This record gives sequence, structure tokens and C-alpha cells, in this order.
Amino acid sequence: MQNDSDQKHTLSDDARDLMALPGELHIDPLEKRWILVAFGLIGVFIAAILYTALIKGVSPPGDMETVDSARLHLSEEFAEDKLGVATLPDGSVRVTLVAARYGFYPREIRIPAGQPVTFRLASADVLHGVHIPMTNMGTMVVPGYVSTVTTTFPKPGEYPMLCNEYCGMGHDHMWSKVTVVSQERWHASTAQATGR
Ligand code: CUA
Repeated sequence: MQNDSDQKHTLSDDARDLMALPGELHIDPLEKRWILVAFGLIGVFIAAILYTALIKGVSPPGDMETVDSARLHLSEEFAEDKLGVATLPDGSVRVTLVAARYGFYPREIRIPAGQPVTFRLASADVLHGVHIPMTNMGTMVVPGYVSTVTTTFPKPGEYPMLCNEYCGMGHDHMWSKVTVVSQERWHASTAQATGR
């Protein structure tokens, strides 16, 4: 059987005080060990959150940027003719998409592999989720907020862009096509498009 001296060996004074409740509460040493493991895991999780938030600069999608979902067609950024893939003057690639029942618009996009691509998404109606299987591209698209994700696709290929938040009867059919092309093909096609 266990006695008090065992407890002194396995627990700090504070933890022992917490557990030494009045009366004769008995906690099995194995149980105590698992309590410590549980607290240790919580510590690891908190450390991981602090590391990604403070050192890696990871924040919730969109940094709480807001947008009027009912007036996307009138907005600067999400009007119909502004949507799609754009190469910015510094060579970075930005994709502007509207998620609406039931698709991501435009329905087909073409982006380069091997370089960061920034997605900016807004919902025109209800909550949607965007996910490109086999990649780390994924976020919720909450009405009223702009979701921003920057990621790099290592491999060229054709990918579906799926909705992964239930948004209505057509949810299962809410997907669009993403074509990821190699750097060579990307540069060849952008040179052609700009006539250089
Ligand atoms: Cu959009 Cu499910």
C-alpha cells in the first residue's frame, strides 16, 4: 500500500497540498502520474500556440478584416471583374475568390507551383469552408470577414477546391478546379499574356 512518503517523492509541495484535501482522499500514484502527464500536455499545447502565434506570426484567418457580404459585387476587391488570379508588381501571386452557394468563383483557377500564393476569400451568403485535399490550403470562410491564406504548392497537378462546412442542399457539389502548373509553364504563360 502507499503511504505519505511516496507522495513526497512524486509530487511537488504545491501539487501535494492541492491533493491533500481534508479527510482521507487517496490518489493512486499511477493516477498522480497521469495527472502530471495531462498538465504537461497542456503546457506543451500552450507553448505550441505561443510559438506559432508570437514567433511564426500565425494568426486567425484574415486578421479580422471585415467586408459587407451582401454588397460584395459593389466592393473594391470582390466585385465580379476583380476576381481570379493576379500577379502583383513584385511577382507575387494573389487569388481573389468569392465563396457562394454552391461554388468558389471563378470556378477554375490556374496558379504556379513552388512559390507562395495568397488566397483572399469572402462569402456572399453563409458560412463555407475551403479545402484543397493533399495540400495545407484550408480555412473557414465566415460571412462578413475576409479569409486570407498564403501557401506554396510543391507539386503541379489538378486539384479540387472543396467546401468543407455544411452550407445547404448543394454543399456536396460545392467545388471548383485548381490547376497548379510548374514554374516554367507559369513563366511561359505570363510572358505570353503580357506580350513579352
Ligand atoms: Cu459551401 Cu458547403
